[in-house]
Amino acid sequence: MTIRLGDTAPDFTAQSTMGPVRFHEWLGSSWGILFSHPKDFTPVCTTELGACAKLKPEFDKRNCKVIGLSVDSTQDHEKWSNDIKETQGAAVNFPLIADPERKISTLYDMLHPNADTTFTVRSVFFIDPNKKVRAMITYPASTGRNFDEILRVIDSLQLTDGHSVATPVNWKDGEDCVIVPSLQDPAVLKQKFPKGFKVIKPYLRMTPQPNR
Ligand code: BEZ
Repeated sequence: MTIRLGDTAPDFTAQSTMGPVRFHEWLGSSWGILFSHPKDFTPVCTTELGACAKLKPEFDKRNCKVIGLSVDSTQDHEKWSNDIKETQGAAVNFPLIADPERKISTLYDMLHPNADTTFTVRSVFFIDPNKKVRAMITYPASTGRNFDEILRVIDSLQLTDGHSVATPVNWKDGEDCVIVPSLQDPAVLKQKFPKGFKVIKPYLRMTPQPNR
């Protein structure tokens, strides 16, 4: 099944290190990150999960739950979590789904057989409180992800949902944004952007981040 931006994130039930998960119910009214890693007891994955655990306060601030997945068993996830705590200085503080039958990894197209015949690739799904898939990232096993980038994408999605802006190249929370080209009414522009905006080209208008 192909999942595209704007689709409803497929629901599922699964076993995890924190007990059975009914995915939509588990998400509740939060944002969610569902991410896969290729394999337990592997080096890059160990660093990724440690980094993700350390960022829990940042995910909480954004009302975002995190859940990991691989084709390993819950027993392996639990054993490996001890290594992550020992080597990365952070205990895994989010559920890890066990998907040995590859049900969820197939549902979410996390198995890319031309890249890796056995394991899930490094997929990330960004899911909003309406359970819609809003962004996706896919990396190969050899490339660890940047979890600061994952937070940055959540910041952009949450900001652009509430204001008539988009976020430009390399934008970070607190930096200037672009005004969406569809917004042209001078009265609405004045009301939405009381701090003003700079017109560089008619289609390129910069404004201070509106929710700051
Ligand atoms: C890793 O996490 O280091 C890894 C996992 C699977 C294949 C290659 C590397």
